[in-house]
Amino acid sequence: MAEQPQKTTDFGFRTVARDEKQAMVADVFHSVAAKYDVMNDLMSLGIHRIWKRFTIDCSGVRRGQRVLDLAGGTGDLAAKFSGMVGEHGLVVLADINDSMLKVGRDKLRDRGIVGNISYVQANAEALPFPDNYFDCITIAFGLRNVTEKDKALRSMFRVLKPGGRLLVLEFSKPRLAPLNKAYNAYSFHVLPKIGALVVKDPDSYRYLAESIRMHPDQETLKDMMVNAGFDNVTYFNLTGGIVALHRGFKF
Ligand SMILES: C[S@@+](CC[C@H](N)C(=O)[O-])C[C@H]1O[C@@H](n2cnc3c(N)ncnc32)[C@H](O)[C@@H]1O
Repeated sequence: MAEQPQKTTDFGFRTVARDEKQAMVADVFHSVAAKYDVMNDLMSLGIHRIWKRFTIDCSGVRRGQRVLDLAGGTGDLAAKFSGMVGEHGLVVLADINDSMLKVGRDKLRDRGIVGNISYVQANAEALPFPDNYFDCITIAFGLRNVTEKDKALRSMFRVLKPGGRLLVLEFSKPRLAPLNKAYNAYSFHVLPKIGALVVKDPDSYRYLAESIRMHPDQETLKDMMVNAGFDNVTYFNLTGGIVALHRGFKF
C-alpha cells in the first residue's frame, strides 16, 4: 500500500497540522523581527558571532561568486559575503518573512552594503532560482523552522552549482550530559524571561527553545543531507554541540 503523507508536524513541542506550521512560524518572526539582533546578542552572549564567523571561514567563497544566504533574516552572513564576492559577485538574501527581510535590508543599506546584494522573499522548500546557480548556500538557524526539511534540502541541492557547497548552521545536540542539563535550564527558564522583558513575547522564545529540542541531531541531519544528494557531508560541533555546522558538496 502507498505510504500516506503525514498530516501533522511539530511546532515546538506541539503537534499541529502540517499546513498550519508555516503561518505559526511567520507569526514568531513578525513578532521578533525588530528586536531580533539585540536578542541574538543577549541570548547567546554574543557567541552567535563566533558561530557565524566559523561558517564564513568554511564557505570558501571567492570574488565573483554567487552566494545564497537562505533564511537569511537580518543579514549577518549576507553582509560578510557581500564584501567577499566583490563588485562582480552576487549575494542573494532570501527569507520567507517580509518583516525579517525588511529589517535586514534596512540594516545592510545603513551600512552602505549595496550593489552586489539582492533581496528575495522565498520559501526554502521551493526556491525560485535556476538549476546550478549558486557557488555557495548558507542557511543559519533557519532549517529548524522549515516544515518540509527534506524538500528544502533537495531544493537547495538543485540550485547549487556542481562543485558548490551547502553550509547548515543550526542548534544541535550538546555532547556532554552536564552541558545538556545546564543548557536545558537556560533555554526553558531564562530565554522566555528575556523574551518577555525585551520583546514582550515569551511564547516566541519558548517556541525557540522547544524547536531546538525537536530539530534532528547531528547524525540525523547528516543523513538527511546525504539523502538529498549531497556528497562528503561532515559536521563540526561548536560550543560542545549546542550548535553544529554541517557542510555538504554537490559533485
Ligand atoms: C532564527 S532566524 C535566522 C536568521 C539569520 N539566518 C541569522 O542567523 O541570524 C530564522 C529565519 O528563518 C526564516 N524562515 C523560516 N521558515 C522559512 C522558510 N520555509 N523559508 C525561508 N526562510 C524561512 C525566518 O523567517 C527567519 O528569518
